[in-house]
Amino acid sequence: MNDHRGTTERGALLSLDGLEVRYGGAIHALRGVRLEISDGEIVAVLGTNGAGKTTLLRALTGLLPAHKGHITGGTLTLAGTSLLGLDPADVVRRGIAQVMEGRRVFAELTVEENLRTGAFTRADKRAVAADFDRVYSLFPILAERRRATAGYLSGGEQQMVAIARALLAGPRLLILDEPSLGLAPAMVRRIRDNLTEINRQGTTVLLVEQNARMALSIADRGYVLETGRVVLDGPAATLLADPEVQRLYLGIGEREGVSIRELARQRRAEQQGVVSR
Ligand SMILES: Nc1ncnc2c1ncn2[C@@H]1O[C@H](COP(=O)(O)OP(=O)(O)OP(=O)(O)O)[C@@H](O)[C@H]1O
Ligand SMILES: [Mg+2]
Repeated sequence: MNDHRGTTERGALLSLDGLEVRYGGAIHALRGVRLEISDGEIVAVLGTNGAGKTTLLRALTGLLPAHKGHITGGTLTLAGTSLLGLDPADVVRRGIAQVMEGRRVFAELTVEENLRTGAFTRADKRAVAADFDRVYSLFPILAERRRATAGYLSGGEQQMVAIARALLAGPRLLILDEPSLGLAPAMVRRIRDNLTEINRQGTTVLLVEQNARMALSIADRGYVLETGRVVLDGPAATLLADPEVQRLYLGIGEREGVSIRELARQRRAEQQGVVSR
């Protein structure tokens, strides 16, 4: 009772087991991935470039075929029902909405028109109106700028539009692909606080990030992906304290207090295969 997250008992909302993904037959991008997200959680997926993070999200959202990729094995369920073979609009109707890498807003449309596109699958006008109120109170700047052309907003504001648009689909599970990418530290903190609040209001969150510090600071649990495999998973606090995570992931994607030289050193170490397990 009185649980902000809307459930008294946490059941598995999303469940992946033995998931295999290939692109064009040759590239084996996910290799037996097992991952679970409970209702009400924030779960972080970490990993360096090419680890398979975006591929994992494409598998969830039905977007793999658009990239000549396909699931070649394993199971994928939302609240016990398989998501395999669904197209992207069906996935949205089932309750998963995504904020894509690189915050794709419709640059020519106004903020409000952008948000409206997020609700395209929904017939319940009253629920959509309530969600407009919700996102405008989450992001007051978007309420102020609702008639502004989205393409003229700052990068951070565009990211807010992308998140708000996904919320207008009324998702149970919100997934975000590197929302902090390219944003200044103050804006990263704002987005992070927005995600905490969105989760507190009852939306489960799957957060893909290279910025491990940001992601683990708000996540309940995390998974580390390397070359298509989960190499580490556990509570966020445990991952934050893990020496290997600290050495290889804390700092990468971080824009505060890490010198370029240190980043270069870490990248070299990675390229030399120090990461492999
Ligand atoms: N459309 C595609 N066709 C062929 N190979 C692909 C395609 N998309 C991704 N890959 C390959 O699959 C692997 C995983 O890529 P993916 O984009 O999922 O990684 P990522 O963890 O999201 O990386 P980044 O941090 O750079 O976004 C990489 O080896 C990549 O080159
Ligand atoms: Mg990616």
